Amino acid sequence: MRHLLSSQQLSVENITEILDMASTFLTPTGLQPTAQRALVDKRFVLAFFEPSTRTRLSFETAIDRLGASSVVFSQAGSSVEKGETLQETIHTIEAMGFDGIIIRHADNGVHEQVASYTKMSVINAGEGSTAHPTQALLDASTIREQFGRIRGINVVITGDLLHSRVARSNADVLSRMGANIAYCAPDQLCPHDAQFAQLRRFDNVRDAMQWADVVYLLRIQRERISADIVPSLDEYRKKYAITRELALDQPHVMIMHPGPVNVGVELDEEVLLAKQCLIHRQVTHGVAVRMAILEKIFSDND
Ligand code: CP
Repeated sequence: MRHLLSSQQLSVENITEILDMASTFLTPTGLQPTAQRALVDKRFVLAFFEPSTRTRLSFETAIDRLGASSVVFSQAGSSVEKGETLQETIHTIEAMGFDGIIIRHADNGVHEQVASYTKMSVINAGEGSTAHPTQALLDASTIREQFGRIRGINVVITGDLLHSRVARSNADVLSRMGANIAYCAPDQLCPHDAQFAQLRRFDNVRDAMQWADVVYLLRIQRERISADIVPSLDEYRKKYAITRELALDQPHVMIMHPGPVNVGVELDEEVLLAKQCLIHRQVTHGVAVRMAILEKIFSDND
């Protein structure tokens, strides 16, 4: 494995190996206090063409804990703003001697293109509406820790699936690891991909919670709550939000979300503090899983 471009390139054995490795970096409440030094002398660039908090900081933390170094490239303030092409930007970065480039980009297909012309390892940190493989792996890791297994766990993905790269990567990884996947969304935000065509659909999250072990919420962008998508915020919340009351009513159902969360839209603020909420544990798994991925890529290629 030289690049991580999509979840589909990983076999079930690869995924299990990454989750097993990640689990050695975790404690029940955080990360192992002693960092690893497996990638000393490796140099990474984090090239984020879209905003990020969790993915960018967790990759930076993972790199630091592996004894490697990183620098951040941001589109804002770079020569991209003067018209430099992506290919020329990548060749410029490569000429500075980096071993790996971690890319988030709004366009589908960019990561594969970059991998075709660079010698650096390319790691996908979010791609358009199609792929967020490291998010899916950290979510699988969180579910496996919580339940002791992934096989047989009922996961309902709820919210804006149409525009969600997380939904696509998660449905792929979790279903191949044996979870049962369903979804819950308004008609206008349902995905059209074949991947979802045969899956069970719920019309509201209250019914979905009767079936689910995990409700995996997706961010609903306020700009999509308009007359032609969802008639009103109240209407959306009535059917798809996890309110404080709903969480209290179904305490055995775990609540996950990739972040950032739209408090007051897809969930209430109190839900973030509930015992059944795994959202901050997901972030910790994000560091461990990204450490495992980097270590796997560079140990496979040394
Ligand atoms: N889950 C996720 O990708 O979050 P960020 O946009 O903060 O990186």
